[in-house]
Amino acid sequence: MKNFLIAPSILSANFASLGQEVDAVLAAGADVIHFDVMDNHYVPNLTIGPMICKALRDHGVTAPIDVHLMVRPVDHMINEFAKAGASMITFHAEASDHVDRSLQLIKEHGLKAGLVFNPATPLHHLDYVMDKLDMILLMSVNPGFGGQSFIPSTLQKLRDVRQLIDASGRDIILEIDGGVKVDNIREIAEAGADMFVAGSAIYGQEDYKKVIDEMRSELEN
Ligand code: DX5
Ligand code: ZN
Repeated sequence: MKNFLIAPSILSANFASLGQEVDAVLAAGADVIHFDVMDNHYVPNLTIGPMICKALRDHGVTAPIDVHLMVRPVDHMINEFAKAGASMITFHAEASDHVDRSLQLIKEHGLKAGLVFNPATPLHHLDYVMDKLDMILLMSVNPGFGGQSFIPSTLQKLRDVRQLIDASGRDIILEIDGGVKVDNIREIAEAGADMFVAGSAIYGQEDYKKVIDEMRSELEN
């Protein structure tokens, strides 16, 4: 069976008790913590930076932290998040002037590196960098906010990227972010995703374990 990863987005957590919110989703069975970094420049919202990532590590979080950079410029934040304890860093193809350099920088820090595609960003940005990618993140909403609806055209895009990954013969994680719910996760997996970010679907419910169990049973049965 495929190794499916469930990654709650702390964007929808209660920031007033973030440490406990992260502990709670991990205790409920989450595999990865998705960490959304917004700069009110590349996207119209402002969230959290490397200090908060470091604070989660100091709090005792040992699970992988998946840093999704929605910032411009990119490279300085790569260095800061590497120091702050990130495990994987992804950035948007349009946000870096030198995509190859940014990918190399992430890898020099020994972290998993990934490129993010907005719903309307074409896939040609993958050309010539597939060999440097550990993950590809497809946005299924326009970045900036939690709680939006999954954009259906992303399903075909997932199938297209899955083909490219399989043809490359490389072990690249295909991550999906935006509007993922218990109701659509199976269809999204069938289109080729293997890592699922979910913010409002998990943190919007009282019982995190119930939602994560339901997602896993959709994926595995
Ligand atoms: C949106 C963020 C997402 C967001 C997803 O820009 O990248 O990670 O938290 O939230 P939901 O799962 O609520 O769509
Ligand atoms: Zn995200």
